[in-house]
Amino acid sequence: MSFGPRERLLADFGWRFHLGNEWGPAQNLAKAGSGYGPASPEFSDASWRRVDLPHDWAVELPFDPRANAPHGFKPLGEGFPHNSVGWYRRTFDLPKGDAGRRIWIEFDGVYRDSTVFVNGWFVGRHGSGYGSFRYDITDVVNVGGRNVIAVRVDASQFEGWYYEGAGIYRHVWLVKVSPLAIAPDGVFIYSRFKNNVPLGPAQIHLQARLNNAAATPADATVTWTIVGPDGKTAARVRRSAKLGARASLDLEQTASLNRPALWFPETPRLYRVVTSVASAGQITDQVQTEIGIRTVEFHPDKGFLLNGKPYLIKGTCNHQDHAGVGSALPDRLQYYRIAKLKEMGSNAYRTAHNPPTPELLEACDRLGMLVMDENRRLGSDSMQLRWLEEFVRRDRNHPSVMMWSIANEEWTVQETPVGRQVAATVQETIKRVDPTRPVTYNAPVGNVFAGINEIIEVRGWSYHLGKDMDAYHAAHPRQANIGSEQGSTVSTRGIYSNDKQRGYVSAYDDNATSWSNTAKQWWSYFDTRPWLSGGFIWTGFDYRGEATPYSWPCISSHFGVFDTCGFPKDNFWNYRSWWTEAPVLHLLPHWNWPGREGQAIDVRALSNADEVELFINGESLGRKAMARASEVKWSVPYYPGTLSAKGYRRGQPVAEAKVETTGAPAALVLTPDRSTLDADGEDIAVVGIAVVDDHGRVVPVATNLVAFEIEGPGRIIGVGNGDPSSHEADQYVTSPTVRSRALDDWRWKRVADPYVPNLPEVAARFDDSSWSKCDVHKERGPLGSGERAVFRTKLTVSATDLAASGLELWFGKIDGDGFVFLNGNKIARTGDSHAASVYDVKASLHPGENSVAVAIANWGEAAGLNKGVMLRLIGETPLPKWRRSVFNGLAQIIVRTTGESGTIRLGARSGTLAPSTISLSVVAAARRPTLP
Ligand code: GAL
Repeated sequence: MSFGPRERLLADFGWRFHLGNEWGPAQNLAKAGSGYGPASPEFSDASWRRVDLPHDWAVELPFDPRANAPHGFKPLGEGFPHNSVGWYRRTFDLPKGDAGRRIWIEFDGVYRDSTVFVNGWFVGRHGSGYGSFRYDITDVVNVGGRNVIAVRVDASQFEGWYYEGAGIYRHVWLVKVSPLAIAPDGVFIYSRFKNNVPLGPAQIHLQARLNNAAATPADATVTWTIVGPDGKTAARVRRSAKLGARASLDLEQTASLNRPALWFPETPRLYRVVTSVASAGQITDQVQTEIGIRTVEFHPDKGFLLNGKPYLIKGTCNHQDHAGVGSALPDRLQYYRIAKLKEMGSNAYRTAHNPPTPELLEACDRLGMLVMDENRRLGSDSMQLRWLEEFVRRDRNHPSVMMWSIANEEWTVQETPVGRQVAATVQETIKRVDPTRPVTYNAPVGNVFAGINEIIEVRGWSYHLGKDMDAYHAAHPRQANIGSEQGSTVSTRGIYSNDKQRGYVSAYDDNATSWSNTAKQWWSYFDTRPWLSGGFIWTGFDYRGEATPYSWPCISSHFGVFDTCGFPKDNFWNYRSWWTEAPVLHLLPHWNWPGREGQAIDVRALSNADEVELFINGESLGRKAMARASEVKWSVPYYPGTLSAKGYRRGQPVAEAKVETTGAPAALVLTPDRSTLDADGEDIAVVGIAVVDDHGRVVPVATNLVAFEIEGPGRIIGVGNGDPSSHEADQYVTSPTVRSRALDDWRWKRVADPYVPNLPEVAARFDDSSWSKCDVHKERGPLGSGERAVFRTKLTVSATDLAASGLELWFGKIDGDGFVFLNGNKIARTGDSHAASVYDVKASLHPGENSVAVAIANWGEAAGLNKGVMLRLIGETPLPKWRRSVFNGLAQIIVRTTGESGTIRLGARSGTLAPSTISLSVVAAARRPTLP
């Protein structure tokens, strides 16, 4: 039977979420297929919040000074068990036509320890917060019916020492494939040139691993079609083979491309390879892969070589969180962030300290950004090696990925023989799965060779700037080097003096920690030593947690060249002046210093001009020569007015800059990064809000609180302002309202057998007036050991009640085994001995009188209906009210489309300031195939 190519459906929409650990692990270790609580398909989640993925519940929590400081003072983890476990549920239908296909569920990343259930069956557990994983759920799905997936996420234990988020914070996919299909991440494509220099033709190596899940052998032909950046077919090759029943096979082929278009960060030319599988004349699977043709190499003296030529790495290390949304970034935000880094002249990105989301790599492939792709945990245990292999297989086709990093700063083991041996196994595993890329390790040691450095292909330098580097290079002249982590300069956007109390560090390039350096210090060193290959700043963007050099009230780091929103700090212009050729001239600080009239202010110019001339109110203060990777300074008495500068190259003016004293805050200005969005439910606009004076100049010290309103097919998903000490909410979350009505009037009677079909005592109508009354609020029920009984009550609901968005029957505890009936119809099996049993009864109730019956057998001690019974009426979810203060004049709002087209109107108001409104048009767009 042929099903055609695979379907890969985005499963991000329509989840329900609940924070809390009421049900424990929910996996019944005694009996198969009987996960309890939310894991059970009969459980009602009607009162749970609706969420779309990606979702991070940590960012929704308030800040708490008792919480873990490195994780940004969010109350989860140790000491906060009630905030550390969350549940997600979603139902989906599978059409009858899917019978015979393999069904996989794929998670791009869940933080952290996740357990997945499908229809009550345990299908897998994954312990890493950063790896992608998938389960084959074919055996346990209902084809032609409804399915329930439930995911328990336990974020109690941290992996890192920085904010990590919590929840299903990356995409989920449902994949349907033919029995004869390409294995998960089974396509591998790489190019080779003679001498690893892209002169002459490229040999394209094409591999596909096939799975035949059928009980009969299959003849398979794989066709690889390479489509060039111009959209034309550049090559097509095939390979055929016979696969045994239930067997896997690797097929390989090569193609030759003459004068291929090369991939560079500056010109990221992409080819598309379509890998198709055919059997008996029918296509059974097809996968598309974007590739780039390029060579990478590290040379001990020349440093990093891209496409055969020295190429200086101007990189940044980054964690994955952003203002407003925590670690749950819509894909478009990845593009936003990579584009910001490119504006600075950066050409490389280190995914510190974990495998990234696949869309980050896609953004790097397409926009042009090299990537050091980092593994999370160093270990050669079987679980870790499997995760490592899956990670490398997942990412090895991305042209952006230039190298692998096996780990970061493993101080306890890095200098030991055992550490060396484990690292060697990890490096060999990577090389086996991907023979094409160099491997490094971020080593926080100076001139030390013993341990991991002995075996690692490229020596990574974590700090230890200075003569240790030269000495090491002299002692190990055949090993290549890279500045895998440098900088850790600390600064706060728009702040010009250190303020421990408020947790701010000045934005002059003056402050670093005891182990780190200013931007000028590290780059001037690396810039003059090509063998170091360049390096990666710690960090491109501020991230939550690690509030170095301070702690509470500080909740986020100060290491970024950009703040958490992506607003540049002054060091942005330092790096840009060193990393780009076009003239750059920037003046700092701002020129709003009321109360400091007549006092000297430290004025600096950041530039790549030869000379800079400074003017105060048009009057020259003279020219100064600008050394490379440096800055020039003046001491200027402050009076309100205009500070301006001119930059000269070879005596000719090439750049100008100006800073003016502004007036008081007068108006708000909203500025979206894009004003036309796709109506796909995923697209976002990143909207800046600025407080300006009556000349439209951003007031650099403004702190006004701004309220936002939104109408049309969009919703706000997060707000931020880059203030590392702000405790304002990034998210305003609302849940459905719930009204409860007690069901107290119960009667009960012993019966012989509660399991028989058509038991009269559970029928819709039955005269139970002679039965005994029963109090259902006790801890233990009236049924003795071995006894069986039926419990009955009446439930009257109005048409208005039935109009509620959800109706649930809630049993505090059903002690005993049997069934629940509504109006004589069996609605569920009882038996959650851990917590309340909750059933969705909206579709089963009718206006007027309804009957509820519970028939149970007691296999334990004393049984019955305990801890109360309620009808829960679930109402609408109130709309949240969003607001945020600006920090030094600026804040950010992220707006996500809902899926419909139309016009979004976003309004901002703040007291007497002139308000601002913008329109974003949301236009129909191709959606990715989505799980309905
Ligand atoms: C490094 C570490 C980073 C971060 C940084 C702060 O040692 O690798 O994760 O903690 O220090 O300077």
